[in-house]
Amino acid sequence: MKTENFEFVRDFLRLRAGIVLEEAKVYLVQARLGPVVRRLGLDSIDTLIEELRRSPEEELHREVLEAMVTTETSFFRDVHPFETLKSVIIPRLIRARREIRELYFWSAACASGQEIHSLAMLLRENFPELQGWKLMLLASDVSQEMLDRTKQGLYSQLEVNRGVPTRLLVRYFNREGLSWRLDESIRDMVDVRKLNLIEALPYLPKMDIIFLRNVLIYFDMETRRAIIDKISRHLKKDGCLFVGGAETMIGLNDTLTRERISNTSVYRLAGGSGA
Ligand SMILES: C[S@@+](CC[C@H](N)C(=O)[O-])C[C@H]1O[C@@H](n2cnc3c(N)ncnc32)[C@H](O)[C@@H]1O
Repeated sequence: MKTENFEFVRDFLRLRAGIVLEEAKVYLVQARLGPVVRRLGLDSIDTLIEELRRSPEEELHREVLEAMVTTETSFFRDVHPFETLKSVIIPRLIRARREIRELYFWSAACASGQEIHSLAMLLRENFPELQGWKLMLLASDVSQEMLDRTKQGLYSQLEVNRGVPTRLLVRYFNREGLSWRLDESIRDMVDVRKLNLIEALPYLPKMDIIFLRNVLIYFDMETRRAIIDKISRHLKKDGCLFVGGAETMIGLNDTLTRERISNTSVYRLAGGSGA
């Protein structure tokens, strides 16, 4: 692959999604764009990139972006955050919101929806008292392909094996050929929206829980800072922000403080109280 074409892909990803690709990642571009080259019947990655440079066609730009994003995820990823939500955070929130009976959750880089669907199952399974409450579960991502997968709720055997306990598999999934379809009653709890975290966000209600997990790692410091600043303005004053286990916000934002709840780290607005 020509150096200038690799540089073009790097700039393209940074401009389109804020994603930083290290110089050593030529192999990654080759591995991810290879299938696009074959699907379009082109003869090489260089031809694809030259096409991309020439063509204003949005569909091609979208296809390249989607091929390049890392969408690794799993049901109940890291386990502890979900246990802490179940045993401490959601019970507290239910007490704090018992008058208004509304709760707002947002998975801000949802990939194929396994994070938000884990939360939906957790709520349905453990909090029958939420029946009749207004619940908003928002799932957003920059990738339309991932949003379509979230809406469809169709997962492979491997994906369900990786994180769905048998009890939940039996209760909330139906076999469809070699895959498993999440029950409509769970899928219907989730609103899916295309949101690019590096762009201005539309009006959204303030959230009780925001998942911003395993996405900050793809951005440079300045972009991380800008995204956290933006996201924290969508958090209720007693809400909780979850980032990935390997991610830290030290030095990135003054308005958030890290708090250890049970065995999970969450971020909350400094001076926030309550739940
Ligand atoms: C590794 S997945 C993380 C999924 C899930 N949050 C988890 O922790 O399992 C990262 C997701 O971030 C999305 N993403 C990357 N850049 C983004 C951006 N600028 N705005 C919104 N989503 C983005 C990717 O499309 C991908 O689905």
